[in-house]
Amino acid sequence: MTPIDPAGTVAVVGAGTMGQGIAQVALAAGHAVRLYDAAPGRAEEAARSIAARLGRLVDKGRLDAAGRDEALARLRPAARLAELADSALVIEAIVEQLEAKQKVFAELESVVPDDCLLATNTSSLSVTAVAGALRLPGRFVGLHFFNPAPLLPLVEVVRGFATDPEAADRARATVAAWGKTPVTCADTPGFIVNRLARPFYAEAFRVHEEGGADPATIDAVLRECGGFRMGPFELTDLIGQDVNNAVTRSVYEAFFHDPRFTPSLAQQRLVEAGLLGRKSGRGWFPYEEGADRPGPATAAPCEPPAEIGWHARPPRVCAPLRELIEEAGIKVVRDRAPYSEWYITLPDGAALTLTGGEAATPKNGGPHIYFDLALDYRTCTRIALAPSEKASARDVQAAVGLFQALGKSVSVIADVPGLIVARTVAMLVDFAEDAAGRGVASREDIDTAMRLGVNYPRGPLEWGRAIGLTHVRGMLWGLAQEYPGGRYDPSLSLRRRAAVEESLL
Ligand SMILES: NC(=O)c1ccc[n+]([C@@H]2O[C@H](COP(=O)([O-])OP(=O)(O)OC[C@H]3O[C@@H](n4cnc5c(N)ncnc54)[C@H](O)[C@@H]3O)[C@@H](O)[C@H]2O)c1
Repeated sequence: MTPIDPAGTVAVVGAGTMGQGIAQVALAAGHAVRLYDAAPGRAEEAARSIAARLGRLVDKGRLDAAGRDEALARLRPAARLAELADSALVIEAIVEQLEAKQKVFAELESVVPDDCLLATNTSSLSVTAVAGALRLPGRFVGLHFFNPAPLLPLVEVVRGFATDPEAADRARATVAAWGKTPVTCADTPGFIVNRLARPFYAEAFRVHEEGGADPATIDAVLRECGGFRMGPFELTDLIGQDVNNAVTRSVYEAFFHDPRFTPSLAQQRLVEAGLLGRKSGRGWFPYEEGADRPGPATAAPCEPPAEIGWHARPPRVCAPLRELIEEAGIKVVRDRAPYSEWYITLPDGAALTLTGGEAATPKNGGPHIYFDLALDYRTCTRIALAPSEKASARDVQAAVGLFQALGKSVSVIADVPGLIVARTVAMLVDFAEDAAGRGVASREDIDTAMRLGVNYPRGPLEWGRAIGLTHVRGMLWGLAQEYPGGRYDPSLSLRRRAAVEESLL
């Protein structure tokens, strides 16, 4: 599919944070750019700040002065929408209000030619609704850039209900020609990234609300064991609790209160208290001058066991553990108990195993200690353990000592179902499988969106394959047993694909 003509004019309506960033991207791609804003003088002001930004690129040696001057000569503020008449593409980035956006497009439609592509940068409104009253809704798409647009590569190209496939393809080809990475998705609440990322926040907040662990520990486990760049508490403090909560609530509303998207009461209270994160000086963590940032709970050094028992075959992800344990000089002997489930036996007989989604405590039989899922057991630097009530202090020390001998910091947390990483990843995989099964986006675009849009260490679909979908389904069943009500019920798509995987085993 061919992009819009590189010599064509790109108009940007709304010259705030996003409008300026998008205008800069279009300028860098060589287009003539018209910038319009309803607030008098705002478009000129925005043009000056774009000039200043390009000036900083010159200072850093990333652009030469002639290139800057040439780009700025192509940028023209517009005083009226009527001045956008010769546009090949208009991208709207005004205030996030449906009526205001509809009004702008109704006006634009009477100004621009019929073959002009129209796009909204909305992050939470229905693209279909924004285009609802248009004479030609077929040429209308969502182009969801991420902030800061000049730096972040991902752009979600959203197909509204009435969008012509040709228009979506042309929009995709255009942003690709601009050096961005486009992903195409259906018009679903939150599109790809904001829909599929909900469990990353929701599971962590729930573990905290249920007394499982404190925010600093949960963040550290997700980073150092799960491989995420930032934990959900520090990340939402950066984004702003109000902004993150508003996205969660709007997706929850748009899905008619589906329990899978339930917002967090604790986060809601933070917002009500004005504890919005870095921008207000305090959120989950304090940021005031001289404030002490709490660290994660980390177990003191413990003696490793000299020998452990190894029973049955571990789940695929835990396979490297045996080698790691042997490399640490701990003897591994075969344990011949009459069960099919894999576990490690500690010296006093406690069973240490990967969480299966349920809590450790109601388990029949002897004491259990569950450990969390790691992105990679060889390279992770932290692990969380949840002992059952039957586990003694000696059992816990042996488990802690074992993982410490493998070079891991250990966080002993309360006995919450599915620990921290496992429940988060199981839900992320399920949300992604569900979206793929419903045709929200291609499997490839889903993984690309989550790697580039929120920096996940792996696309969730790839992660599901690495863990094994039967295992993910088992974790969700375990969680659903502990928390009835539907939130953890595996989706139809996940169950189908897990069944296929099982039939091939
Ligand atoms: N800020 C982000 O991180 C982000 C990321 C992705 C998408 N978005 C979306 O981009 C859009 C803009 O967000 P922003 O953060 O740049 O907002 P902003 O408040 O920085 O800028 C909005 C601009 O639109 C102007 N405006 C308002 N009504 C107008 C109208 N009727 N006609 C013309 N101009 C009008 C305002 O004067 C303002 O300059 C929203 O839809 C938002 O949801 C924002």
